[in-house]
Amino acid sequence: MAFPSAFLDELNSRNPIEDVVGQYVALTRKGSNLFGLCPFHGEKTASFSVAPEKGIYYCFGCHKGGGVINFIMEIENLSYPDAVRFLAKRAGLEVPEDGTNQSQYKKKERLWALCKESARFFNEQLRSPNAGEVRAYIAKRGLSRATVTRFGLGFAPNAWSALLDAMTAKGFTKEELYDAGLVLQNREKGTFYDRFRNRLMFPIIDVRGNVIGFGGRVMDDSTPKYLNSPETIIFNKRRNLFAMNIVKKSKQGFIILTEGYMDAIALHQYGFDCAVASLGTSLTQEHADMLSKYTNEIVLTYDGDAAGQNATQRAIPMLEKTGLRVKVLRMQGAKDPDEFLKKYGADRFKLLLEGSENQAEYRLRSLRMKFDLTTDEQKVEFAKQAAELISTYSTAVEREIYGVRAAEMAGLSPETMKLEIGKAFKRRAATEKKTQEKRDLEIAAARQPRARELRYDNVRSAMAEEGVLRMLLREPALFDRTGGLTEETFSVPMFGKVFSVWKQRHLEDLPLDLSCLAEGLSSAEMSHLTGVLQKQDAPLSDDAFDDCVRIIREEYRHAQVSDASSLRAMQESLRKKKGYGGT
Ligand code: GTP
Ligand code: MN
Repeated sequence: MAFPSAFLDELNSRNPIEDVVGQYVALTRKGSNLFGLCPFHGEKTASFSVAPEKGIYYCFGCHKGGGVINFIMEIENLSYPDAVRFLAKRAGLEVPEDGTNQSQYKKKERLWALCKESARFFNEQLRSPNAGEVRAYIAKRGLSRATVTRFGLGFAPNAWSALLDAMTAKGFTKEELYDAGLVLQNREKGTFYDRFRNRLMFPIIDVRGNVIGFGGRVMDDSTPKYLNSPETIIFNKRRNLFAMNIVKKSKQGFIILTEGYMDAIALHQYGFDCAVASLGTSLTQEHADMLSKYTNEIVLTYDGDAAGQNATQRAIPMLEKTGLRVKVLRMQGAKDPDEFLKKYGADRFKLLLEGSENQAEYRLRSLRMKFDLTTDEQKVEFAKQAAELISTYSTAVEREIYGVRAAEMAGLSPETMKLEIGKAFKRRAATEKKTQEKRDLEIAAARQPRARELRYDNVRSAMAEEGVLRMLLREPALFDRTGGLTEETFSVPMFGKVFSVWKQRHLEDLPLDLSCLAEGLSSAEMSHLTGVLQKQDAPLSDDAFDDCVRIIREEYRHAQVSDASSLRAMQESLRKKKGYGGT
């Protein structure tokens, strides 16, 4: 049976693959992936991997793979619908058994439309006669007209039902307003009233451009200073970052992470179009995963106070886990980027960014803080851990510089420290070399599909097709660049099928994943597809993507030409045999 896709999306997000698999297999993290012993074939070394970002598992040994639904199908030996029911139960979700329940998605669409209309309404209110105070506040905070437009800022009037009236007049129901978190309900009377009143409004927009919620700031010192939309079916704070819709187009090559809306906005206004803010919550692993799809480097600009420093310490490992480089920016003389920019200007901030204290120094200093270096015991322990840490630094210069610094901290001679770092470095290099060799071998062997019936006819096109699917999974916006590609242009029929299913989902604004394919593919196909999708790629780039698209089209043209010429040859030989001319 077909389950509604909105339901399957929810099912997937409530059953993170690492959690589900983790109930059957002991997993340990290496980089952004997790590894364990494959439950599908006997083995002593861990070749079974789980990639949480991609929502897939894959075994390098037996080449089984798929999404979370496939995993349950395999391990519990269930049919597709039963595996879905199994996971629904695990997550406490109700299964829409009648198949008519497409309503969740329809409902999301309504709420997106409502939030967009609300943002428009708040924005228009800036021009109303009652908006004097907010206009003065905007001026006081130094927000330019262009900034107000770019971020769609607005004003929630000082009234109990301004938004409620405006939106119900547009055909939205009170319940919809409630579900979008825009109104609250009076318990006794049952009546509804506006959540946001007399506030400067910041629409929160997801990477696809949907308005999903709001932040609202008071214009004086009253509390709460910021009021945010509650969690709703379209607004998830753990997965969204303010301004990400703009930043995903930035060409800066790094992303600046701030603590507040105002900081992100100020950075944009001063020319740094790569600043995002978390939504009044601390950074989550989901945020880190999302960021890693758009950049290789993060600059943290949290407040200098204890809370900000704690947040920094918590954020670093989450970001690094995904392979991101992390820099920590320290501001002197200002509490946040907004204040810094106003006081010292964009050029000074740029200098700060360039000299941005690198994580090498920061990490060494953080490690140092954990020890009381007045005792010999602690000195030895610190030296050991520092050597381990410094051995992970990527350049010899860094290892040298920080080695000397660590020696000073521990009161050891630089030579002793150097020796320790050297040992740690060799240990690390040896294990890394081994895993790299193993991986290279596996990659070579994995080029052709395992299952004989799936062998590629045209390896050049197939490699490009793999690339296209892999990149689309990471960045669905690349669908804009797939002009000329259709299901038929793919040389591997299964890839063509995947492309067209995903394209349809993309048009409907649904996320791409494997679960939407679980029904249509055989288990050999699914395993192969997963193998393809879990391969490591170079960083995403439009150029790389365009190259793949070009190759597929070229190969398709060639194939057609050779088809046509073999057709002509056949006709020719027929004509000769039968001895008649004409066409
Ligand atoms: P400005 O005072 O406008 O410059 O904002 P700020 O970003 O400097 O404020 P602050 O450092 O106090 O807060 C940083 C972020 O924490 C804000 O952007 C909000 O997302 C969140 N925050 C601050 N105060 C509140 C509050 O009272 N309630 C909630 N829910 N979030 C808040
Ligand atoms: Mn501030």
